[in-house]
Amino acid sequence: MATYNLALIGFGGVNRALAELVSRKNAALEKEVGLRLNIVAVSDLHYGSVVSPNGIDPRALTETRFSKGGFASLSGGRSDADNERVIKEAPADIVVEATFTDRVNGEPAITHCRWAIEAGRHVVTTNKGPVAFAARELKLLAAAHGVGLEYEGSVMSGTPVIRFAKRTLLGSGLNGFEGILNGTSNFILGKMEAGLTFDAALREAQELGLAEADPTADVEGHDVRLKVVILANELLGAEFSPRDVVCKGISHLTPAALSVAAGEGKRWKLIGSAKRDERGKIHASVEPRSIPLVHPLAGVNGATNAISFQTELLGSVTVTGPGAGRTETAYALISDIIAIHQANIGATKPCKEAA
Ligand code: HSE
Repeated sequence: MATYNLALIGFGGVNRALAELVSRKNAALEKEVGLRLNIVAVSDLHYGSVVSPNGIDPRALTETRFSKGGFASLSGGRSDADNERVIKEAPADIVVEATFTDRVNGEPAITHCRWAIEAGRHVVTTNKGPVAFAARELKLLAAAHGVGLEYEGSVMSGTPVIRFAKRTLLGSGLNGFEGILNGTSNFILGKMEAGLTFDAALREAQELGLAEADPTADVEGHDVRLKVVILANELLGAEFSPRDVVCKGISHLTPAALSVAAGEGKRWKLIGSAKRDERGKIHASVEPRSIPLVHPLAGVNGATNAISFQTELLGSVTVTGPGAGRTETAYALISDIIAIHQANIGATKPCKEAA
């Protein structure tokens, strides 16, 4: 049985949900997978930082209502965040990077990942920034340092699409994908189909906590663009950065346009896609498309995400599931840790063998 010490960078919804899962699921993980998780450090801009080599009770992290700087009240705690010290010095096997996504240059999360890898830590992240802007560099660095780097939750949260496509569809001749990769915009389109204006539908999405306070990235396709870059690079061998992908959102669509499509047996969806052409060139885009109702993505409603992989040997293979949510995204981190464990990097890197 292996124990992995975790350092959590960022303590927003996702890492808080991970701490809840550690507290609820360790026994099941031990039984099913043969591993146990132990949180030894947390650093967060708002709450401060805490390092405790023997482990922090995850319930103390999740059940206490900390105010600003509140980690100072914990043993080994301080009121200031100290990402660099925690990443480089805390006795962690795995750094869990879940800070905010910067859509312009992916920082400071890229630096966090770099520090962690150079310090010999495995990295798991749900953050799209490092993966969309620096996956190639970080993967080379991880290989050079003999550590794992996993990021399943950067696309479609815990719904397994990256490893599914890379591993399970290996050999199928994967040559493209089309996806509904943003739940907020899909929810809004559904409401507009039912007659709401864009603004009213967006308000409803915000009231339900789906859309961000600034929903630009959701409705203008910027969030999907990062996911398309990640998938195109990862699955098709592209070398895109976000500026290479043309991107159009849904804010210009009207209920009238949606009802015209309905009259033609079609439905508007915000589609992120990439495809390899006969000459091997990869084309990618984010745009609203009016697709026929028989299309595998046409029936995907509400905030649900889906992706259809185009393959030579199987035709189209579609995976559907949640694309957001705290626990769902935290599960992606658990699946990444399991992947690292199973890759047996653990044999040389992490962990303490239980007596
Ligand atoms: N805000 C995104 C969505 C989830 O609405 O799908 C995180 O990428």
